[in-house]
Amino acid sequence: MEVKTSLLDNMIGVGDMVLLEPLTEDSFIENLRNRFDHNEIYTYIGSVVISMNPYRSLPIYTPEKVEEYRNRNFYELSPHIYALADEAYRSLRDQDKDQCILITGESGAGKTEASKLVMSYVAAVCGKGQEVNKVKEQLLQSNPVLEAFGNAKTVRNDNSSRFGKYMDIEFDFKGDPVGGVISNYLLEKSRVVKQPRGERNFHIFYQLLSGASDDTLRKLKLDRDFSKYNYLSLDSANVNGLDDAANFRTVRNAMQIVGFMEDEVQSVLELVAAVLKLGNIEFKPESRSNGYDESRVKDKNDLKEMCELLGIEQSVLERAFSYRTVEAKLEKVSTTLNVSQAYYARDALAKNLYSRLFSWLVTRINESIKSQSKSRHKVMGVLDIYGFEIFEDNSFEQFIINYCNEKLQQIFIELTLREEQEEYIREDIEWTNIEYFNNAVICDLIENNQNGILAMLDEECLRPGTVTDITFLDKLNTVCAEHQHFESRLSKNSKFLTDHSLPHSCFRIQHYAGKVLYRVEGFMDKNNDLLYRDLSQAMYKANHKLIKQLFPEGNPAKVNLKRPPTAGFQFKHSVGTLMRNLQTKNPNYIRCVKPNDKKAPRIFTDSLVRHQVAYLGLMENVRVRRAGYAYRQAYEPCLERYKMLCKQTWPHWKGPTREGVEVLMADLQVSTEEFAYGNSKIFIRNPRTLFSLEEKRRGCLENLAALIQKIYRGWKCRTHFLLLKRSQVVVAAWYRRYAQQKKYTQIKSATIMVQSYSRGWKARKILRELKHQKRCEEAATTIAAYWHGTQVRREYRKFFRANAGRKIYSFIMQRLMQKYFLGLKRDLPSMSPIGGSWPTRPYRFLDTAHTELRSIFHHWRCKKYRSRFTDERKAVFEEKLQASEIFKDKKALYPSSVGQPFRGDYLEISKNPKYQKLSSAMDEKVLLADVVNKINRANGKGTARIFLLTKNNFVLADQKTGQVKASVPLPDLASISVSTQNDGFFALKLKEGSAGATKGDFLLSSEHLIEIITKLRRTGATAVNHDHLDIDISDEFLVQFKQDKVCVKFVQGAPKNGNGASCKRKNNRLLEVSVPSTA
Ligand SMILES: Nc1ncnc2c1ncn2[C@@H]1O[C@H](COP(=O)(O)OP(=O)(O)O)[C@@H](O)[C@H]1O
Ligand SMILES: [Mg+2]
Repeated sequence: MEVKTSLLDNMIGVGDMVLLEPLTEDSFIENLRNRFDHNEIYTYIGSVVISMNPYRSLPIYTPEKVEEYRNRNFYELSPHIYALADEAYRSLRDQDKDQCILITGESGAGKTEASKLVMSYVAAVCGKGQEVNKVKEQLLQSNPVLEAFGNAKTVRNDNSSRFGKYMDIEFDFKGDPVGGVISNYLLEKSRVVKQPRGERNFHIFYQLLSGASDDTLRKLKLDRDFSKYNYLSLDSANVNGLDDAANFRTVRNAMQIVGFMEDEVQSVLELVAAVLKLGNIEFKPESRSNGYDESRVKDKNDLKEMCELLGIEQSVLERAFSYRTVEAKLEKVSTTLNVSQAYYARDALAKNLYSRLFSWLVTRINESIKSQSKSRHKVMGVLDIYGFEIFEDNSFEQFIINYCNEKLQQIFIELTLREEQEEYIREDIEWTNIEYFNNAVICDLIENNQNGILAMLDEECLRPGTVTDITFLDKLNTVCAEHQHFESRLSKNSKFLTDHSLPHSCFRIQHYAGKVLYRVEGFMDKNNDLLYRDLSQAMYKANHKLIKQLFPEGNPAKVNLKRPPTAGFQFKHSVGTLMRNLQTKNPNYIRCVKPNDKKAPRIFTDSLVRHQVAYLGLMENVRVRRAGYAYRQAYEPCLERYKMLCKQTWPHWKGPTREGVEVLMADLQVSTEEFAYGNSKIFIRNPRTLFSLEEKRRGCLENLAALIQKIYRGWKCRTHFLLLKRSQVVVAAWYRRYAQQKKYTQIKSATIMVQSYSRGWKARKILRELKHQKRCEEAATTIAAYWHGTQVRREYRKFFRANAGRKIYSFIMQRLMQKYFLGLKRDLPSMSPIGGSWPTRPYRFLDTAHTELRSIFHHWRCKKYRSRFTDERKAVFEEKLQASEIFKDKKALYPSSVGQPFRGDYLEISKNPKYQKLSSAMDEKVLLADVVNKINRANGKGTARIFLLTKNNFVLADQKTGQVKASVPLPDLASISVSTQNDGFFALKLKEGSAGATKGDFLLSSEHLIEIITKLRRTGATAVNHDHLDIDISDEFLVQFKQDKVCVKFVQGAPKNGNGASCKRKNNRLLEVSVPSTA
């Protein structure tokens, strides 16, 4: 539940001065002091916030505080500047009312800080987002830039704003900031050339000299030494707690964030440097023939450097310091300047340069922060302007400032009364006339166009002839003499003739906040604010973009003989604009008060505060606010707060709240003049009434507290008792359960024990009986078995003996055979047909069976081996077999041929291109092709021939040419003869009378003799279609050579290298072949 609080809770003194009783200046100040001593620096006057400068940081600006005040009603929490900021922001966002925050107070009272607090609060509570944050950042960062150029250390404030500032912050419909516009008022430019004791020039000069890099200073032709510059006051150049170098970096950074270009920053710094240089230019008199002194620049170095910085021609500026051109109608007259006039001109130029630079900065910042969108904006204006100034010596500036404050008071009265009146009408309350002092008459004294002081001043400035400050005062004395707020010794009003507090050169105005004495000296000069045209023209000629821009009137093309508007006129004009602007907005006031002159915390100087309370018109504020009804509150919070004071409304009121309040007020018997019922609020005329209500409420709250305490204590004891009672029942129940459980387990175990004993006894009894029964049965069976056994044995004894031997024998034989076969199965030899091993027989009686089994096994494995052969391999083996049949044990060459495979075609004639012709001559498949030696019949020498065997023929061909020498059909072959020895000779004998026989038989020798002959026999046999071809194996045989028969005889020769046999013709009938012996 949300806790409803009120300003009236835990109040120190009174939080709202409207409720002060009795209302006197003493009680007012006492209340401020009381609150200040308790760190309550904020106090309200209705919706106006009085802020006392604490001169130390208080923990009341934390983010938690922001949250606390966010979206709360103004009077709900203790007074705070955040409450005002929140109220203003919310009515801007939710009710679409433009707001302005008017902050006034004397220098050092905390106005600038207050304006920053308001801005930072609004920044914290408004929308977030990249774009919005950028705008916020730019708006906030405009402050350090303006402070550097517009603030200075004064005796009252180390960071005193020396200009008035009004800033419009613009918001979109959601309440997010979109931009802003800044206006500046009346920069105190006299500070540029001269500062009072203990004060400094504007911060930027010191910041530049301490913070800029050596390089920058060199470029600006500056030294890092304050004492070198006439315009800088030296006694207070260094201020405690002010780090100029760090601030310079902050300012440069802020300028960058705000959007200044690098060259713009450079130009600005050049101007600042130029002002410092200008201050160092000095003049000396030079006598002229006409008796007058003419001024001359003393040391031209500074002038030169300044001209270089700004791109001005030195001679032009130098001349402008010595001569002055006066233009009257069409004539131009040049007059010389004396030294003091030259100084005046120099200072005027410096002041103008600086103040124009400042205005340019404001314009430039505005360019950056101006809202991008064209749509209508909600606006919150923040005015941080100097308050009333009453010094010992008041001059033109104070006059202007106080005029501005009069105007603000005027607007305050107007708006507060208007608001009050509007509220009365809205609430249907009868309007009672309010007595208060209206300062419109003072404003009129100053600003009236016919006979106002400002108008008189302007008139005097423009009047031809000798005009001085005194002639101006004379004029006032005649024109304003009758005015009740104007006082002057020499006025026609004889009342002041003897008033010695009024010097002759002064006039006094009774401002709403008190009387102020103004010295007229300097009024004319300051109002005129003259800069000689020669100087502005010199500036315009500068080769520097910014300078040119600052002195547009120096443009010779636009010579304007009209005087520029006076300072007073300009100020009046801008104040008028400001007032018109403020009038359209809902005002929120912050009145800043300075507690002491020492800038010290915790010190409250009575007289100083009293003075400020007077000139801020705070008492006036309270009076205006209290003129009708001092206090008002909506019905609902009112009923909520006081409902305990009446039986009917306590604790709940069911009907409409207004009726509830009426019942309440009637019940409390509050006198009817003391309050009035509005439409939504009750209005209480006197704070007294409110406090009596509060008093009653406090008393009632105490009773209520006692009542609540009583009920609570009763409730607490009762609940405690009930808890104890419930606990006791629970404990008892648990204990009983436990006892019963224990008893039950005891009984249960006893029962089980008894039961088990009885069951055991019964079981043992049955077991005994069963055992006895079983033994009886077994005995009977044994007896029966023995009896049967005896019977059977007696019956079968005669059969058993006759067959037993044979049965035992066959059984043993069976066992032995079984063992033998199983052993054989286990030890079977390899499956290779040539494997010779065979297990030994175990018993002799198995001898034949063992041999038989061995041969069966051998045949079986041979069969297995054969079954794996292809037809081709089979043919090869058949050939080998045939060779063995023919030659085995008959010819000594045979054993060496067994290992050689029969390849048949050794020449590969079908593939070899050399034998292509031969191959094509063969129309049959060649079964064998080899090179043989054909033995010459004449000498027994061999000639190489190709031997081919086909299915039907054998052919002899020339080895080189492949030409067929002889082709013999196989049927013509009668027999073949070979020796028994280890040689390759063989003779092919032809049938007599056959076609081939004419040439005679062939005696040939070959390395593949066995193969050739085997093949010849196989094919020859099939070709001839008879069973076999005769093969004659002997060491002597006859060969038919043409007509002769020649015997070929084989003899054993000596062993020889190489085993070739040699053949020799011995005689006509004998050919001897010598075969080397195989030793
Ligand atoms: N609310 C505050 N809390 C703490 N210090 C403050 C506060 N307001 C002002 N000050 C101190 O007072 C000094 C002067 O305040 P400033 O706002 O510059 O005065 P003004 O603008 O009225 O001349 C500040 O520099 C700061 O030290
Ligand atoms: Mg200030």
